[in-house]
Order: sequence, then C-alpha cells, then structure tokens
Amino acid sequence: MKGNRHPTNDLTINSSGNESIRDVIDRTGIDRRRFLGAGLQASIAVALAGVYTGATLRSAAAAPLAPSANGFGGIGFDSIAAKLAPVANSVDVPLGYKAELLVAWGDPIVAGGPAWLPDASQSAADQEKQYGMHNDGMHYFPFATRTGPSNERGLLCVNNEYTHEEILFTDGQVGAGYTIAKCRKSQAAHGVSILEVRKTNGKWGVVRTSSLGRRITSNTPMRISGPAAGHALLQSKKYAIAPTGSAQIGVNNGFEANGTINNCAHGYTPWGTYLTCEENWNGNFGATGAIGSPNTGSAALDAVVVNQQTRYGVTAGGFGYRWHTVDPRLDVSTNPLETNLFGWVVEIDPFDPASKPVKRTALGRFKHESAQVALSYDAQGIANRIAYYQGDDERNEYIYKFVATQAFNPRNRAANRELLDSGILYVAKFLSTPGASTGSFRGEWIALVPDTTSVIANGQGGFFKLRELPQFAGASDTEVQALILIKTRQAADAVGATMMDRPEWAALRTYTDGYGYNYSGGGYGYDATHPLEVYCTLTNNNRRGGGGSTNATSVNNPNGTSAAGGARPPVDVANPRPDNDYGHIIRWREDGNYVTATGFEWDLFALCGDTATTKTLGATYQTANLVDGVAGIGPVYQGNIVDAPAGSADLGAPDGLWFDQFGRLWIQTDQAGNATGDFANIGANCMACADPNTKEIRRFLTSPNNCEVTGVVNTPDGKSMFVGIQHPGEDSVAANPTQFSNWPQSQFGKNSAGEDLVAGQAQGANIRPRSSVLVITRDDGGVIGA
Ligand code: FEO
Ligand code: CA
Ligand code: CA
Repeated sequence: MKGNRHPTNDLTINSSGNESIRDVIDRTGIDRRRFLGAGLQASIAVALAGVYTGATLRSAAAAPLAPSANGFGGIGFDSIAAKLAPVANSVDVPLGYKAELLVAWGDPIVAGGPAWLPDASQSAADQEKQYGMHNDGMHYFPFATRTGPSNERGLLCVNNEYTHEEILFTDGQVGAGYTIAKCRKSQAAHGVSILEVRKTNGKWGVVRTSSLGRRITSNTPMRISGPAAGHALLQSKKYAIAPTGSAQIGVNNGFEANGTINNCAHGYTPWGTYLTCEENWNGNFGATGAIGSPNTGSAALDAVVVNQQTRYGVTAGGFGYRWHTVDPRLDVSTNPLETNLFGWVVEIDPFDPASKPVKRTALGRFKHESAQVALSYDAQGIANRIAYYQGDDERNEYIYKFVATQAFNPRNRAANRELLDSGILYVAKFLSTPGASTGSFRGEWIALVPDTTSVIANGQGGFFKLRELPQFAGASDTEVQALILIKTRQAADAVGATMMDRPEWAALRTYTDGYGYNYSGGGYGYDATHPLEVYCTLTNNNRRGGGGSTNATSVNNPNGTSAAGGARPPVDVANPRPDNDYGHIIRWREDGNYVTATGFEWDLFALCGDTATTKTLGATYQTANLVDGVAGIGPVYQGNIVDAPAGSADLGAPDGLWFDQFGRLWIQTDQAGNATGDFANIGANCMACADPNTKEIRRFLTSPNNCEVTGVVNTPDGKSMFVGIQHPGEDSVAANPTQFSNWPQSQFGKNSAGEDLVAGQAQGANIRPRSSVLVITRDDGGVIGA
C-alpha cells in the first residue's frame, strides 16, 4: 500500500525523525542520479544481455523446472523480461498466457448497482453497490457441485484496502469544502467486496444480479467476540450512522462495532468463511482537538488509552482522509476508544449475505497483514489442530501465531462457528542458535498469556510476569488476557519478541502428493520431506541497522511505550541487512510438524535485491554492525535471488505471498519508485514464481505503471488464476486524475466477459485508472504455472 492517501505508508507514523516518503524519493533519486552518472558498467551490460531485451514479452528460453519427488509441481514458463522505465501501461504475462480484466473499481456487483462513470460523479449509495477501490488480498470460494468444487462458479471475496480521494471524487478535493457525502463515499469504497463470478461459454464474468453479491464497508454493523469482547476499552460512543452524518445515541457495550478499515491481506477458514485483516486503520482516524485524556473516569485507564494511540500510530492528521472532520465517530479527541474497535481480524460468512461480520479478538490487535491457516495433528495425536500465522506490518513489529483451543470439525460446519474465539496467541522470537540443518537457526513461540514472564526486571533478581505489569493489570486473569489482546503490541514488547523488517503475507507450503494442507481440500500429513513450513515476506525496513552518531541503534521499549516505527534496531540473523531496501523472505518449520509446537527451525529463503546494483551502504552505517559474514547472507543490496541467468528475476519489496495447490510459491511485489532509483534494473512491480526446493525464481507477470501487484488465488483445478492490480496511477493529483495512468482502459477495451469495459469508451481512452482483478488463463487450457 502506498499512494496519496497514505503519503507515508508505514514510514512516519510517529514524529521521531522517521524518514518520510519524500525523503525516500529524494534519497533514491540521488542514488539514481549517481547510478546514471556512472554510466552502464560493462558488468551490468553483461548481466542484462540475453534477458532484458526490452520492456516487452521476451523469454530467456530456459528449460522448465521439473517437478520434484517431494511434491513440487514444477514451473513450465520462462521468466519474462523486467519492465524497465518508462513503464509501459499494461500487464504482461508469458507467451501462451492471457490476462483479462474481470472486475474494476466501481463495477456493479450487487443487484441494482449502477455502472461506473468515468467522471467519478457517483454517490456513496452507488458505491455501496459497486466494487470497492484499491483491492488487495482475495480468496475464491467455489460453489459445490455433484462432481466437487466448481472451477467455473464461485464467490470471490476481495479486500478493498484504501482509497485515493483524488481519483474517487470528481473534484478530487479533500481540503476546504470536504463534506459528509465525500466521507461516506470514501467509507463505502473501503472494506470487502463479495462477488459471484461465473465462467460461461469459456468467459469469466461477474454475476451482477447475484443474491450473494455484497459490500461490507467502513460502516457495516459487526459483532465483537472472543476474550476482549465487552471490555471497557471497547466501549466507545455509539452512533446512528446516516448519509447526512453520525449522531451519538449512547455508548457501545464492547460487543458491537461498525465497519472494517484498511483491509489489506486476508485469510480463509477450512469451514468456508473469509477473514479480512485490518492493517493501517490508524490512518483513517484523526483528531479535531488534542489526543489527550479520554476521561474514562479512571486516570489509570486514561493513561492506557493515550499510550495506546502512540503505540498504534494514531495521530491528529491521520493519513489525510479527514473523515474525522465530518464524522465524529472517527474523531480521536472526542471518541478515543473507537480506535480499539479496529486492528482485528474479521470473519465473514460469504454464503450468508445477512450474516454480521465478527471481529475475532483472540487473534490479537495490531496492523494485521494476513492470516494464513495451517492444520496438523498435535503431539497427542489429535487431528485438525488449527493455527493462524500473522504478520504485523510496520517497521520493527512482530510475527504472531494463534493456536485454537478446539480442533476443527470437518463434519459439522456449525461446530466451528466460534472456533476462533478461544486459543493462545504466540509471538515469534528468532534465535541465533544453530538449528539441525545447515544454515538454519532455532526459534520459539512465546505465549501472550498472563503467566508469561516478561523481560522487565522486578528488582528482586527475577522478572515480572505479564499480569504483574501495570499495563496489563486486571481484576482477574480474564481481564488481564483481554488487556494483553487489546494491547498485543505492548505484550510482545514486554516478552522480548524479535523486531522484524515489516512482516507482510504468510504462506503455508503445499505439496502435490497428498501431504500438507491446502484450501481445496488437501490432506494435512507432514513428514521430514514434506515439512509444515511457513514463509513470510519482510518487505523492507529503512530503519534497520545503526552505527555512528546519526544512526544510533534503539529498540522497542519493553514497557510498551514506544512507537516501533521510530526504533532503529541493530541487524540480527533474521533481519541481516541494514537499511533493508529490498526486503527478504523468511521461512520456518514447526517442531514435529505440529501447529501447536512452541519451537521451530528457520532459515532465510531469499534476500531480495538487484544483482547489478551499484548502490552501497550509506556512510552512517558501520560495517562492523553487519552480519554479512553469516554464511549465505551475501552483499547488502545485491541479494541472493536464485535465477538463471543471474539477475533475470530480481525483485524487491516482496509483499503478497501464496502457495498454489501444486507447491509453487507465488511472490508479489510492492516496490516504490515505478522502476526508478533502487528499482531501475529490477523494473516495475511483478509477480514471480519460486521453487521452494531450489529457491529458483521466475518472473511471471509485470505490472502497469504506478501500481502494486497484490492478491492472488486460483480455481481448484488451477486453470484460472485471479490476480489483483492495486492503485494504478497512485499519486496523481486532484486536477489531473489521469496524470500517471489510465489503466486498465489503456490495455483493455472489453472485460473478460466480452462487454465494453466502460460503455462508450474505446480502449485507450484517457479515463481514470481503476484498481482491478484480472483473470489469467492459458491458451491451451492448462494449469497456471505448470
Ligand atoms: Fe497493505 Fe502491508 O500491505
Ligand atoms: Ca506493502
Ligand atoms: Ca501488503
């Protein structure tokens, strides 16, 4: 996620001198000038030869990657070329593949929804029946047929993470004259879109009259459940929400909420529900006055609330949405407890349009990126134990695992209805202790429960337990647990979890030979050659590493009072690169292949980077602080991506991450800079595919300009793949919404169903860019990637 409405993304949620996005652009711009000034060095030219033959479809003519004995299905396509600047305004895929447009922002998906208008003149009420803006994570729920799950008909649940007001509003203005009507439209464009998709006569399309089509927005009534439900910190002011404004009608009881915000990536459950994860929700709040005492009646509680806002990055201006100026529900100065209703994982039953989404507090409260499910036996031989792996995407935050108390019941859907309400939330600590296999290290899951010992000394030669710390003090363990979950970040601070380089998606390894677990009904057996292995993208961290007077290292305060984005932790074995521009991918294998394990073994799957870069580490970093000496870590910015020829599949800022049901690992990127600066050689954002055994990566899809590739899922047969393109044309200004892009109109005249993309508009027409979902198929009807 980037863009105008999130001008600082995760970069400057506190005012402690963090680098802003402008700083980054300036910095990378300087690097780019230096790079260009040096000219194309011979070594770079050699690296490019035979691969980068232009920003068009050219393959490296490599041999297919063969399937392997441990359940990897192989990769049958050749890496396509990097799309270098100036970035062509199209999506490109390998020869033999076809990308078509399935749905775009503003398309009607609910019965009665109007068609999108290129001048963005439609109302909030219209938007509530249309596909939301800036799609991110997604999942396909096939309809059941007599022969199994359908490959031609199902529900596509898609997150709509954020909005770009300069494109969303006709006049693009959020300054003077901002209105409740604009606020309501913006709120309506956030959330989740549930659309019925169907393949008819070989063409995928949206069933626009489907009774299952649904929009869930920032105002949709929801339930709060789990250990924190009902707590006083969740009892914000209650509002009647109308198109013309929000009027207070009392106080919430802690079991109800309105809306979900900033839904980044996602998850699903084995019982067929969708999970949407609230990420940068803090940016949608603001304050018309001071973020001061909330006047709860308790000085101790007031202090907690104020500290909460700092730790979670709530500021007076937010990300510039200005909702709070017209909707008092989102005004932190008058309704501070409302922020505690966000930062959760929300469960939605897509097959019941009347159902209330449920915020599941047992999974913790932070900036959730995604929630990856895994199932296994446990050490007692009990089947169907269930866990969710989750990243908190901000610099120097943590990786979590939730283990449900009860096993999943595959024979009784209703029995799983409240399964996510009880369990243990763990946070990861990545140790430098060597593991059993070469290049691996040990790790441990620390339970965030009242009895866990913190790293805070008690002055008597020991350490406080969480329940003994004032920030979690409660009348009972039940209340202590509720406070730990509401203040998950502070609890993780207190137990000394490992600060990571912005954890994005987690992905569970799958196997083609009956091992593992995947959403289309695979088994869940694991063994030594089919380990229970989870991968996680760590997208970047420009505050990693220190040294010298200007980059002194600092860490999160164990007492939970820090703003983590402002810390500058030293490098460690799990986050080995200072100023980690390109990001990396980490993976871990649970001890005994049980999701209930409290120990794991981890290694680094890939350090992303640019093989041909001339970039060097800034002088303010001390090389003595690097751990480049660790075997396999390699140079700072070149990375160690395995590709052939070297450099042919370089990528940076990995974000979306997903195993298809054939053991192939798909990687999506969220690079800034539109193929400039640090990404001049890597090119535009992309989706790549990796072999988890050999780590070889091939580039599969390249993006239009000024966007992010995020969200991917396929049909059970693997022959149709849905892929999201988010925020094409980001940063365009109000006066010129097509300043940077008119995609998808630039590429498509018609959608996948054969209809005009926009009635009356020819392909190439210069109309507003629209976040979209593509459907990718093979000309020969084969499995994508095979
Ligand atoms: Fe919305 Fe962390 O990406
Ligand atoms: Ca991202
Ligand atoms: Ca993301």
